[in-house]
Amino acid sequence: EAAEKGGYPHFMLKEIFEQPSAFSNTVSPRLRDGKIDLGIELTDEQLKNFKQIHIVACGTAMHAGIVGRYLIEKLARIPVNVDVASEFRYRDPILNKEDLVIIISQSGETADTLAAMRLAKKHGAHTLAVVNVVGSSIAREADSVLYTWAGPEIAVASTKAYTVQLSVMYLLAFKLGLCKGTLSQADAVALIDELAGIPVQLQSILGHAEEYKAIAEKYCHAEDMFFIGRGLDYALSQEGSLKLKEISYIHSEAYAAGELKHGTISLITDGVPVIALATQQRLCEKMVSNIKEVKARGADVLFICYEGYGDCSEFADSVIALPQSNDLFAPLLSIIPMQLFAYYVALLKGCDVDKPRNLAKSVTVE
Ligand code: G6P
Repeated sequence: EAAEKGGYPHFMLKEIFEQPSAFSNTVSPRLRDGKIDLGIELTDEQLKNFKQIHIVACGTAMHAGIVGRYLIEKLARIPVNVDVASEFRYRDPILNKEDLVIIISQSGETADTLAAMRLAKKHGAHTLAVVNVVGSSIAREADSVLYTWAGPEIAVASTKAYTVQLSVMYLLAFKLGLCKGTLSQADAVALIDELAGIPVQLQSILGHAEEYKAIAEKYCHAEDMFFIGRGLDYALSQEGSLKLKEISYIHSEAYAAGELKHGTISLITDGVPVIALATQQRLCEKMVSNIKEVKARGADVLFICYEGYGDCSEFADSVIALPQSNDLFAPLLSIIPMQLFAYYVALLKGCDVDKPRNLAKSVTVE
């Protein structure tokens, strides 16, 4: 097992550090001369004609779907629903033949996700699976398959599989935008170029691991933590919070920052850690005003923003600065410090990082 860990103390840490190469392996083969070739049988005409998209998955894969919704709606202007598979399959969803159902699953074996896909097929929707395990049940039964090439993921808490699922969501959103005509060729070329540059940025963020460890030391004794954000940052808050609770057993919640005052703010008292993401320029001012609200109630704020943010000493107790980026790509960057933060908090608490209690890598029974 030590050999399989390649010198890392845990699979989770190894898999976090494999993200730049997993990303390149998934994205590079699909880019040719500034064009996207998804390698699926669906024609541009078919992609153009989907009226509605459903993204169905569980856990971390569902969180990748939430980012996918944001990207597809923004770039391709097609309405997207995201649902956890166990809800989708029992709520009599409205499915039509003109619908695309995107099924995301690392293992390709999650029982609820597989059942949701079968239901979608029964209704005549086109099912497109985003799967990491070649030949898995979901991959075999889907109408089309887009493989993520993360390689085997052993740690129960998903890290590199999430990042490559996100990478596929970007490719899909670009492709759909191009087919719909809502994204110009020139804009697509620029976005593709930025996407291709992500692994270099991931590598540089990974170089800050020790810094995130020091921040984890400060927060590892907390009993509760709250993650807040708006837009894509809210989507990322959900994954950051899940990662932390899965492996460190610290109670953690993600909240849309604008929704704080409708509940969660009652839980903010002296010293409660609030991890606040602010990578979306358009929403930054509103985010800062939410952060000041929690700060006024005594929160200890860990602020995640871009380098060069300026003076945040008024409301931030600790800061994680990400390399400057197009806001659309921020999820690919902000996830790394959150994964490492969760990892180090769990490690410092003496938790079994790779095999957290009560959780399974793949949930093949309902
Ligand atoms: C389990 C795992 C999670 C994973 C989820 C969905 O809960 O512990 O890490 O996100 O299942 O798994 P899938 O293989 O369908 O992506």
